[in-house]
Amino acid sequence: MLEAARRALANAHAPYSRFRVGACLRAASGRLYAGCNVENAAYPVGQCAEATAIGTMVAAGDREIAEILVASEGAEICPPCGRCRQQLAEFARPETPVHLCGPEGLRTSTTLGDLLPLAFGRDVLRP
Ligand code: THU
Repeated sequence: MLEAARRALANAHAPYSRFRVGACLRAASGRLYAGCNVENAAYPVGQCAEATAIGTMVAAGDREIAEILVASEGAEICPPCGRCRQQLAEFARPETPVHLCGPEGLRTSTTLGDLLPLAFGRDVLRP
C-alpha cells in the first residue's frame, strides 16, 4: 500500500501548496486503489489524495474500504482532513485502520472511528 501511495504521490498536481500527498485504499476485495491530490488554480476546487482514491475505487466497482494509508513528505504526519474523513466513512467502518506515513515509512496508525467520532452516516437518515 505504501508503494502504491508513493507512486501516486509522485504524480500529485500540487503546484500551489507544493504539498504532495498520496493515498492508498485496500478494498475488501483485496484490490488496491491509489490517488494523489489534484489542485486547481481556483484553490477551493482542489481535490485531496483520499478523494481521488475513493473515486477510483468506486468507479472500479468496489464499495468497502478495509484499510487506509496516507503518505506525505512533510515533517508532520498528514492526517486526513475533515472532508476526507467524512468521505472515507461512507465506505469504511469505525474500526478501519488508518496508517499515516512519511518518507521514512510508517509514522503512526489509528482508526477512522478515532479520527471521526460520532460520525454522521446513513443510519442517521433512517426514519
Ligand atoms: N491534502 C490531501 O491530499 N490529503 C489530506 O489528507 C490533507 C491535505 C492536500 C490538499 C492540498 O492539495 C494539499 O494537501 C495542501 O493542503
